[in-house]
Amino acid sequence: MAECRIVVLISGGGTNLQALIDAVASGFIPGRIVAVISNVPHAYGLERAQRAGIPVEVVDHRMYPSRRAFEAVLRERIERHRPDVVALAGFMRILGPETVAAFQGRMLNIHPSLLPKFRGLHTHRRALEAGEVEHGASVHFVTDELDGGPVVLQARVPVRPGDDEQRLAARVLEREHVIYPLVMRWLCQGRLQMRDGRAWLDGEPLEQPLQLDQLPAAQWAALVRH
Ligand code: GAR
Repeated sequence: MAECRIVVLISGGGTNLQALIDAVASGFIPGRIVAVISNVPHAYGLERAQRAGIPVEVVDHRMYPSRRAFEAVLRERIERHRPDVVALAGFMRILGPETVAAFQGRMLNIHPSLLPKFRGLHTHRRALEAGEVEHGASVHFVTDELDGGPVVLQARVPVRPGDDEQRLAARVLEREHVIYPLVMRWLCQGRLQMRDGRAWLDGEPLEQPLQLDQLPAAQWAALVRH
């Protein structure tokens, strides 16, 4: 890939966006964030992007009569940047089949749970209510199924006695900032693909999601090598 052009979609604070910005700046992700698009006009992530000199755009879903109309404009705005990769980073709209199809195989999402557990919203609260002893985050390819595309990498954190939603969310978020840049790096390096509904890394299908911190050291070193 000549230059990996990344478009990031956000709706909020943008700490995952910041992790991606920092990883591009350090050269860890061999690419360039060519635009950040938010569906929320005053999302703080837009300021982060501007501070990094990245062009920002707002496509406010409330300005459109239907989801299809909103997404038609969103797709057009994304496509204008000719992205190799579209990263959903705290983007809180469900995307319909036309948008998913347009970017299939090059659209990633980060989700704050150990998928397939807790798809959808309020994952931390639901993990606590379910009495989970372990929680975490997943980076996956986006497909038609909500939070159902092939998972590439997960990070696990313990649920501690006395945790509330905020504390647990913060512990998970910290690990999100590690796994998202790593998966983005693999995609930009051309080492990661989605084929036959599965994720492939370095020419091998992933039978199960990779687990941060749980691989043998040698295998891990190979995965993060430059
Ligand atoms: C992150 O925890 C991300 O995993 C989650 O929203 C948060 C955004 O934080 N995404 C979803 O719930 C997607 N359904 P950020 O704006 O600080 O990156």
